[in-house]
Formats: sequence, C-alpha cells, structure tokens
Amino acid sequence: MSQTRRDFLRRVGIAGGAGVMLHSMGALGLTSAHAAETPPFTPLKKSDLGRHGRKTVIVMGGGIAGLTAAYELLKGGYDVTVLEGRGRPGGRNWTVRGGDTYTDLKGQTQTATFSKGQYMNAGPGRIPQMHVTLDYCKELGVPIEVFTNQNADAFLYRENVPGALNGVPVRQRAAKADAYGYTAELLAKATDQGSLDQYLTAEDKERLLTYLRSFGAIGNRVAGDPAASFKYNGGGRRGYAPQPGAGLEAGTPIPQYAMSDLFASTLGNYFSFEMGFDQAMMMYQPVGGMDRIAYAFAKAIGGGRLRYNAQIVEYNNTADGVEVVYTTPSGTKKAVADFAINAMPPHIAAKIKSNLPTAVVTALGSVSVTNAGKIGIEYNRRWWEEDFRIYGGITNANTNLANMWHPSYGYHSDRGTMIGYYNTGGNANFYGNLTPPQRLAEAVTQGKKIFGDVYGQGITASFSQDWASTPFSEGAWVGWPGAVGGQTGAGYRSLLEATGNVYFAGDHLSHAIAWQHGAMVSARVAVESIHARVTAA
Ligand code: ALA
Repeated sequence: MSQTRRDFLRRVGIAGGAGVMLHSMGALGLTSAHAAETPPFTPLKKSDLGRHGRKTVIVMGGGIAGLTAAYELLKGGYDVTVLEGRGRPGGRNWTVRGGDTYTDLKGQTQTATFSKGQYMNAGPGRIPQMHVTLDYCKELGVPIEVFTNQNADAFLYRENVPGALNGVPVRQRAAKADAYGYTAELLAKATDQGSLDQYLTAEDKERLLTYLRSFGAIGNRVAGDPAASFKYNGGGRRGYAPQPGAGLEAGTPIPQYAMSDLFASTLGNYFSFEMGFDQAMMMYQPVGGMDRIAYAFAKAIGGGRLRYNAQIVEYNNTADGVEVVYTTPSGTKKAVADFAINAMPPHIAAKIKSNLPTAVVTALGSVSVTNAGKIGIEYNRRWWEEDFRIYGGITNANTNLANMWHPSYGYHSDRGTMIGYYNTGGNANFYGNLTPPQRLAEAVTQGKKIFGDVYGQGITASFSQDWASTPFSEGAWVGWPGAVGGQTGAGYRSLLEATGNVYFAGDHLSHAIAWQHGAMVSARVAVESIHARVTAA
C-alpha cells in the first residue's frame, strides 16, 4: 500500500471510526467485498421540528418525486399538500388495466379491455437491485418479483444488414455463443502468434489463453498449425436440434454462423446491454403492476393530502412563503404554504406562470425531451411460452419495434400480455403519429417477421402509449444538452438550489434520469434541504 493511501485510511479511521474505515477500504478496492450502498439518507422523525412549529409544504406534482417528498416530509411532522393534475398518483409510473380510459393530447381516447389480472406498465417496468425503489417497496409493503431483462432463448432480429443473417430471427444464446466464440478465437490467435507481445508477458499470455478458451468455448493450440489453433466450432451453448434426450440421444448442436455473417449482422453488439449498471440482471417488478408503488405511497400519505385533477396554473414566491393557483373540476383555487417542491417535469414547469427569475424558468425549459412508446397486446394463448419456450425476457429487433417484452408474470396461464414494442426517439414518434388501431396493425406486421403468423393471432386487447402526447408528461424523460452545460452547467445547478421558497425535485435533477430511483433520491435531497433550512432558523 502506498504511503498516501495508508495516510488516507489512517485519517478516515481517526475521524470516522471503523465503519467509515471499512467503507473507505471498499471504495479503494482493498476489501474482497463491500456493502452496496444507496445514497445516504436519514429519514426525518416526528420530533425533529420541535420548537420550529408546524411547517407547510405544497408538493407540485404527484409523480414519484412528489410522492416521495410528501411521504418523507410527513415523517418529520410537516403539513403537506400534493397537487396532481391527473386523476391518479404516480405520473409516468402508470399501469394500464382493463376498464382504464385515457385521452391523449391529440384527443384520441382508448379504453383498455385487458382481461382481469392482465396489465401493461406504460412507463417504468424494471427496477435494478441497487435502486432505492426497492427500499420503498419493502417499506411500503409492495411485493416484488423478478423482471426478466435478459433471456438466452429470446430472439434477436436484424434486417437491412449485409450477409446471410439479414432478416433471420436468431436465438440470443446462438448469437452470443458465436460472438464470444469468434472474438475469443481471434484474440487467442493474435496472442499466441505474438501480436500482443508488447502488452503481455509469457505468463499473461498463457493465462489469457486459458480465459479465452473458457469465455469462447474454443479449441486448443494445434502444434505447428496456427490457423487450426483455438478454433471456434460452435457447440451446445448455442442450442441443439434435436436436444439431448433419453438413451442414446446425445443431441446435435445447431451449426454456428459464419464469422463474417455474424459480425456483419451486428447481432453481437446487443450484448453490451446486459452489462449496463442499471440493466444487468437481477431486476425486479412489483407484483401486479408498477403502480403498486404509487398507490402505496398515496395510501401512506393519506387521501386528504393528495388532490387529484388539480392542475397548477401559477405559482409564486411571496414575502413569507409560496402561493400556488390551480384549477379543479369545481373551480380555481389557491393554496399557500411556507415552501413548495416543484416536482413537475421541467419542460412543463417552464410553461407555467410564476414570478421566478427568468434564468430559472429558462433552465427548466432548456432540457431536451426524449419520447418513448409502448404497446400492450393481450393474446388468448401464451404462444411465446408454448411454441418458442420463451419465459419472460426481451426480444430485440432493429425494426421500429426495437424491444418486445415477454411478460414476467402469469406464466402458464391461459392468456398473456406482451409489450409488443418499447421504443424511443424516432421510432416512438413514428408510432405516436399513428392512431391506436394503426399502431397495432404496424406492430403486428413487424412482429410477424420474427415470430410468424402467430403474432397476429388470438389478440384479445391492445393499448398503446405515446409519451409525447401524454398530458402532464409531454415526453418520456429529459436530458441536459451540452449546449447548456449538461449536468454541470449553471442552469442545472440553479435548480439544485431553492429559488426563494421553491425547491425542485425529479429524476431530471439526478444522475439516474429515467429511473424512479432518480426521482426518489432527488426528492430526498429537497426534503433534507427544506428541513436543514427550517431547523437552522
Ligand atoms: N430506465 C428506462 C428503461 O429501463 C429508460 O427502459
């Protein structure tokens, strides 16, 4: 250990005790395992306000950030009112079930006819293990189950690519075995033939070759024959026809694709997805739909404090607090409080009248908005399980469908609901510009290319969602363009501070944008900031 590292550890050891010491060692990579931690947060206690009296907070927006903020403030004895434009909690956390009616900003109305027990998560659908979203599921008593984000037996499909795999649905396990196999073969050959000698010792080379044999299921060195050495020859990893069976049936591995075709297909490029920090298995979903989280928050917050169908039309800092004007079915109302937390999407908040400084309003409106879309298609038969033996997971295509989610619930039951597409950007806009019946027709046309006619058979319900044309959302998530300094620019930073008595929260003010975790940790910071100010007074 270097002198500097030892000094550093001694200093934190003195200042923070053994726990901090252990944590720091983990952060430096010095222990074999260290606890995975979410951002530190100490919930408020009822006794915290004490002599400071009862403080009032208006939470603008009942999405996940707003609900988290309200829930945490209530723990500290704050008097909280949540104003939510929709008739339900959760914002983009939205589960669509049979009987739900929805009208988009274009005036198109859909009424979902999903069967009992069937649903689609129109917004968030998966939760990584390290997200505080799971902590809230635990605290609020929302049961979870596995969300299958990766399945070796789901398909990959690429069209308009060179080579023999153009337009061929490929099992992910086959594409992965070939991609790993050929990569391992090439790297092993280069290593063995001395091309990497400037980077590797003789010992390193042998160890790398051992690793590559395991990684790619490749052959051994063939003495005197470099071309035949470390050959990838396919094998059982990529699947069998027929499968290993009883007695003398050893199974016949399906032959590998040619290396050139495999790389030309781009299929191998998909496997980086499952390595993502926030996309790697295991992942989870609430049992019965993602909105179980939103409704559990709403229940804990208490009905009287949550006002639905309350559309905010103006908010202002006043001499000693805030005032928020909102419309309801029974007329326009005004609420006043000591503080507000603006937990609305920034591009929506930017359009609402206020006396906030122009620079702050400009910052809110400076985000880039991304669209996303999904379609839920209910079938009267779980053909993906029965015909293809795909139990959950994602089939991915380079068509406008992008991602097709095989449901991670209801296995073996008599019906099931696929997410027929989950796409973003241009593909989402393309579907968003179609009518709901046109969206289904197009999704079926594209889906048949992968699964055949079965994709259009036995459809009993469908519901499609386009976030760009969704009231109170007008987009799926936002980013901070480089032109405004990204997430270190003055605009972004200005929203991390209070503007007078108005605080801001949302996933857009986190480094977990487009995740409920981001909304939750941002809301916690807003709560801490308000409480620090109140108790410092
Ligand atoms: N977090 C979102 C997803 O997993 C974007 O698809």
